[in-house]
Amino acid sequence: MISATEFKQALQSWASGVTIVTTHSEQHGLQGMTVSAFSSVSADPALILCCVNGTADTIAGIDASQCFAVNVLAATQQNASSQFAGGCSYEERFTNNPWHTAVTGSPLLSESLMSLDCKLIEKVQAGSHWILIGEVQACESRDGEPLLYYRAGYHELAIHDDT
Ligand SMILES: Cc1cc2nc3c(=O)[nH]c(=O)nc-3n(C[C@H](O)[C@H](O)[C@H](O)COP(=O)(O)O)c2cc1C
Repeated sequence: MISATEFKQALQSWASGVTIVTTHSEQHGLQGMTVSAFSSVSADPALILCCVNGTADTIAGIDASQCFAVNVLAATQQNASSQFAGGCSYEERFTNNPWHTAVTGSPLLSESLMSLDCKLIEKVQAGSHWILIGEVQACESRDGEPLLYYRAGYHELAIHDDT
C-alpha cells in the first residue's frame, strides 16, 4: 500500500486551477474555503464535483444550506486563495474580498474568473474527504487569466510564441 506521503508527493505533478467554494447558511453565516479538487462531471444535466476534507468547517454550512458556489480564481486572486485556506477568519475572508449574492443565496466572489452557483445534489464519503456533487443553477464569467497551482506553489499561464 502506498503511504500518504508518497501519494501526496506523486500528486504534486498534477497542475490545477484554484477555486474557492463558498456558502451561506442561517446557522453558520458566510463560509468559504480554497479547493483545487474540482471537476466538471456532466453537461446535461450540468453537474460538477469538488472534494472537501471532512475536517473543514465550511462543510457544516453546506450541509445546512444545501447550496454552494465554486469560484474559479483569476491570477490576481492569490491572496484570496491564501486567506480562504485558513489565512484569516471567515469574517476577514469576506471583508477583504468583494462578493455578491447568487440566486441560491451563496456568496459569489466578484473578482473571480468564473463562478458556478450550485445546489448540492449528492454528498459521498471517500476516505477523509466528502465528494460534493452540485447541480449548476447559474454561472457568471469574466475576462482574465487563471490562477494555477503546481508543486505546492502558485503559477500563471506562460505565453508561448508559436512563430
Ligand atoms: C491551493 C490550495 C488548494 C486546496 N485544495 C483543497 C481541496 O481540494 N480540498 C480540501 O478539503 N482542502 C483544500 N485546501 C485546504 C483548505 O483550503 C483549508 O484547509 C481550509 O482552511 C479548510 O476550510 P475551513 O476554513 O472551512 O475549515 C487547499 C488549500 C490550498 C492553499
